[in-house]
Amino acid sequence: MHVRRAASQDAPVIKSLIDCYVADGTLLARTEDFIAAHAEHFLVAEENGSVVGCVHLDEYAPSLSELRSLAVSPDAKGKGIGRALVLATEDLARRRGVATLFAVSNDEAFFTRFGFRERHIPELDRERSEVSRFKGVYAKDLV
Ligand SMILES: CC(C)(COP(=O)(O)OP(=O)(O)OC[C@H]1O[C@@H](n2cnc3c(N)ncnc32)[C@H](O)[C@@H]1OP(=O)(O)O)[C@@H](O)C(=O)NCCC(=O)NCCS
Repeated sequence: MHVRRAASQDAPVIKSLIDCYVADGTLLARTEDFIAAHAEHFLVAEENGSVVGCVHLDEYAPSLSELRSLAVSPDAKGKGIGRALVLATEDLARRRGVATLFAVSNDEAFFTRFGFRERHIPELDRERSEVSRFKGVYAKDLV
């Protein structure tokens, strides 16, 4: 398995991975057009030539980025793909000079494994949807 930067041609498979977790409210839906237009900010995990995981590094404000749309194919969970995607996202964020990376999630146990801790991020308040208001915000300083 390896993690690589996404290309716009990966948009359909990235959308289908994200869609696995939209119905239960875990992830926000993304259109193929959105993903293709922002492909340089997505990473994908590939196993035996197939894309089995994805993540989006979304620049929220200067020095502040969000790790979002983290999804591993339901039949590929538990093999370290989520871990590889989180670490690759941190690497990319560091290379882009991001000081703080955060995630909005109900999965506190997963993010705390990687050193993320619950934190209030004031910049987020104005844009949080009613849905994400019920989720935790977990942040990690990279520098
Ligand atoms: C969360 C998710 C990305 C994990 O992917 P994965 O490939 O199964 O995770 P990994 O196999 O890399 O697991 C890494 C570590 O996290 C642990 N872990 C995995 N899922 C976990 C969870 N939901 N809660 C707590 N710990 C978890 C694993 O046991 C492993 O620990 P270890 O290193 O001590 O063995 C995957 O379950 C998923 O796509 N979930 C739905 C979408 C989602 O919740 N995204 C996060 C919000 S943006």
